[in-house]
Amino acid sequence: MIEQVKGTQNIYENDAEKFLYVRNKFFKIFKKSGYSYLQTPHLEYSELFEKSIGENSEIVSKQMYQFNDKGGRSLVLRPEGTSSIVRYHSQNQKELTNQYSYFGQMFRYENPQKNRYREFTQGGIEIIGTIDTFSDFQIINDSIRFLNELSLKFSLEINTIGSIEDRKNYTKDLYSYFKLNEDQLSDDSKNKLELNTLRILDSNNAIDIPIINNAPDISSYINEGSIKKYDLLKTTMTQNDIAFKENSRLVRGLDYYNDLTFEFVNDDGLVLGGGGRYDRIADILNIGTFNGVGVAFGIERIMNSISIKIKPPEIYIIGVNLEKITTYCKLLENNDLNYFKPPRLSKINTQYKNAKNLDVKYVINTDEDTIKDLVNNTSIEFNIEVLIDN
Ligand code: HAM
Repeated sequence: MIEQVKGTQNIYENDAEKFLYVRNKFFKIFKKSGYSYLQTPHLEYSELFEKSIGENSEIVSKQMYQFNDKGGRSLVLRPEGTSSIVRYHSQNQKELTNQYSYFGQMFRYENPQKNRYREFTQGGIEIIGTIDTFSDFQIINDSIRFLNELSLKFSLEINTIGSIEDRKNYTKDLYSYFKLNEDQLSDDSKNKLELNTLRILDSNNAIDIPIINNAPDISSYINEGSIKKYDLLKTTMTQNDIAFKENSRLVRGLDYYNDLTFEFVNDDGLVLGGGGRYDRIADILNIGTFNGVGVAFGIERIMNSISIKIKPPEIYIIGVNLEKITTYCKLLENNDLNYFKPPRLSKINTQYKNAKNLDVKYVINTDEDTIKDLVNNTSIEFNIEVLIDN
């Protein structure tokens, strides 16, 4: 038997219903507030992410599905969406400020476990062009509208990581500090020390915690302009009743961020989505001078955090006359009723059995023009009102 690739998923039945439910909510909320859907390719040149996310980031150094195509070009299955949206913006909309939304599969070679997959779905929004603190607020506020629409319980954590220069200075001091305490770090953190110092702060390993707790804090490295922007955002959020927690350890794993970083975390500590501001990405990629802010949600993580009861159709249409079946299907569709129908032209008894197995309430027999109520075991002449009323 050919096995399924590790870390990938088949989303079917109740999970599929959940997936579609979340996707519908995503587009309902973000379309309403002016985000235009942009679908970018799953394949990109490796260079895009190496430059934007950063060569030393964990995603690029360890997690990319990277290969040479038959023409010898180095390609990757996209690990995230922001860089591609930025690429699109520079090619087509450079002079504008746009609101984009995207929804689709991402690929990261991670250690698979619940809520962490190698192929997963992100739904994201980005504002790109000439943006300011008001744009940061919009992204956060619109994200909250989306999470509230799904009745999710979450908290919002925010931080400022200052300019790229501030972060460089901070990382230098952080490196010296961890280097001094290297003996006391876990093996995993030791491995991150040289190329990925900042990521040591993400460690949940009990060995690392006391060392991390005493590490220098990024807040004392932030320039005045960034502090002002951060203060303005906090004031705006407070004025708009948006609750948040400040977390000065929230530096996030992608190099393109500056100033604002934030995450939405559920009650179990699971990060449902995260994002931030990226003012220098276009400059780094050498494609212009625009800036942006955005967020991406882990759709499977959201699916795993909600419980919804999805009702399958309660009606099964049976019969042997294709034309009649089609006429009844149309009638039900026009009345916004969901139904099952025979997947092929089988005997009426077989169809009836299938209907019973699916536990439907009503069977419409199109040969007899009747409705059978399987719960009360009654049969009446077909009348659409009976179905509508239920
Ligand atoms: P990220 O934090 O790497 O940010 O991913 C965003 C979200 O995707 C995470 O919070 C998580 O919910 C989900 N996620 C990430 N990796 C996995 C995985 N292996 N399995 C399941 N879910 C996962 C970004 O990707 C940025 N592009 C976000 C952004 C948008 N920043 C600005 N604009």
